[in-house]
Amino acid sequence: MKQILIVGGNSGVGKSLVALEKVQNNLILFHRSEASFNENNIAEYKLDVLQDELPDLESLDAIVYCPGSINLKPFSRLSEEDFRDDFEINVLGAIRVLKKYLTVLKKSEAPSVLLFSTVAVKVGMPFHTSVAASKGAVEGMVKSLAAEYAPKIRVNAIAPTLTDTALASKILRNEKSKEMSAERHPLKRYLVPDEVAEMASFLISDRGRSMSGQIVEMDCGITNLKV
Ligand SMILES: NC(=O)c1ccc[n+]([C@@H]2O[C@H](COP(=O)([O-])OP(=O)(O)OC[C@H]3O[C@@H](n4cnc5c(N)ncnc54)[C@H](OP(=O)(O)O)[C@@H]3O)[C@@H](O)[C@H]2O)c1
Repeated sequence: MKQILIVGGNSGVGKSLVALEKVQNNLILFHRSEASFNENNIAEYKLDVLQDELPDLESLDAIVYCPGSINLKPFSRLSEEDFRDDFEINVLGAIRVLKKYLTVLKKSEAPSVLLFSTVAVKVGMPFHTSVAASKGAVEGMVKSLAAEYAPKIRVNAIAPTLTDTALASKILRNEKSKEMSAERHPLKRYLVPDEVAEMASFLISDRGRSMSGQIVEMDCGITNLKV
């Protein structure tokens, strides 16, 4: 049984990952909302990773950091504060969690870290400057940390395209916008959180033991295919 910390396990991809991992592992969840699971192998902490004191944990095998942002605006309307807010939640929150728990994580036999990027780092998309800047930093961090902690700790990221979660609800706001979003992708679909969670589960498991420093694109073809 592994001990897995999931920051943001009560919504979207994190919630789907909880459903997969709770079957075999002990989970520790951090999120700002009230507790939503009532299971013996799930310990929930209501906290804000940017502000609150993080609890001491005795052992950890994996850390998954899910919080992120989709703040899409023309560059002319993005304020410095927008950039700062995006950097805080996407990058500094992850750094804070990693700094707190890397020592305990290192004691695991097969430790791993999983962060989230976005397809908008690899392919230029209008209105994505702020999130792309922050997620670009996440990708740089993944590669640097993976090198620094090899061979002990594996560090990877998933870079998803649009995924049907609360975070994307403004984009996938009605049937028409869902149709148009699917149409933009060469595979004529966007992602559901369960499939991203399957990849997350693979990357933090022993099946992913040869993967480190990777940015796994789950992109429905949007970054690599021209059709
Ligand atoms: N959805 C997409 O279309 C999409 C596309 C590309 C990349 N991504 C990336 O994929 C990752 C997962 O996205 P998602 O759509 O599953 O997100 P989501 O549905 O918004 O879930 C985010 C989770 O993080 C928690 N959280 C947010 N801020 C927090 C804070 N300050 N302290 C503690 N917990 C916090 C939230 O819980 P509380 O609100 O209760 O705190 C929630 O459980 C993100 O990094 C996102 O940037 C998503």
